[in-house]
Amino acid sequence: MKIAFFSTHGFEREVFDRFNARSGHHIHYLTPHLGEDTASLAHGFECVCVFVNDVLNERVIASLAAGGTRLIATRSAGFNHIDLDAARQHNIAVVRVPAYSPYAVAEHAVALILTLNRKTHRAFNRVREGNFALDGLLGFDLQGKTIGVIGTGRIGGVFARIMLGFGCRVLASDLNPDAALRDSGVLYLPLDEVLAQSDIVSLHCPLMPATHYLINAATLERMKPGAMLINTSRGGLIDTRAVIEALKSGHLGYLGLDVYEEEADLFFEDLSGQVLQDDVFARLLTFPNVLITGHQAFFTREALSAIALTTLDNITEFAATGDAKNCVRAK
Ligand code: NAI
Repeated sequence: MKIAFFSTHGFEREVFDRFNARSGHHIHYLTPHLGEDTASLAHGFECVCVFVNDVLNERVIASLAAGGTRLIATRSAGFNHIDLDAARQHNIAVVRVPAYSPYAVAEHAVALILTLNRKTHRAFNRVREGNFALDGLLGFDLQGKTIGVIGTGRIGGVFARIMLGFGCRVLASDLNPDAALRDSGVLYLPLDEVLAQSDIVSLHCPLMPATHYLINAATLERMKPGAMLINTSRGGLIDTRAVIEALKSGHLGYLGLDVYEEEADLFFEDLSGQVLQDDVFARLLTFPNVLITGHQAFFTREALSAIALTTLDNITEFAATGDAKNCVRAK
């Protein structure tokens, strides 16, 4: 198929080219995001390949359809950036990569926890400057602490098992509890109970209307004073302004983010020479107990290979049959 590949990052090209040698698609790499201003670049391409910060709203999808696009292939598990109803109305199929490496994301959530707790990022700088003082580096044992996992699908399930391995008590909230996790010792409780009892809360549910601002002023209030909040899922799960207030009051003890609700204008680019325009994000950066990474939780060699392989296989299957097992359909 002829593929317009939007939001191309240097790290993706090599791996897609390597796997495409056996798939034989014609890939046209583009650096801009897909959005209303750039949708015309896809005209004449049967397939557009997109990533999490591309915008595929009604107007963009209508433009893609007018240009002859029949397939949207997202290089992600999440598909909240795609208007599925509009895609169906315009007869465009949507395929995704349902699972590539749940370990990559779960392990990154653990990295955020360990760094925030033991402050290895600060110790690294101190030791290099000959400062071996320990003041300000005090952490806590994870063993015996209570961890709340919101969403125990592929990633949340791996994360829960890792935390069980640390000797933690693991609580979870999910609409569909996982029997095997329960057998392993995970205790399912209503969301409010999980928030109230947990020393660390980690978000692993998808972003959708029902989960938008799942963490807000009211739910933050229910969390234990001094608790740690980790989000490697999607920025829109958290009301950032409410979190800033909770950090200022000291009620929230630590915040670890790999995603941010307005990340589309920031992440995946080198903006180090520019003035930061997002005042909310700038405020977050001032807290000593906040650690932010730029949507890199998925970023392992294993995950990149699996993303490229599955995306190309999705496109090949759709080209051959007009359908694919990884199609996402509007409910
Ligand atoms: P999954 O579909 O396997 O699991 C999601 C779980 O959340 C399911 O068990 C579902 O029942 C549960 N859930 C849905 N609504 C809920 C609610 N209101 N409360 C509690 N649980 C709820 O998804 P997977 O693969 O584990 O991915 C989770 C999320 O991680 C994705 O939606 C995506 O947004 C994010 N992600 C982030 C990445 C990163 O690089 N930071 C990379 C990959 C995924």
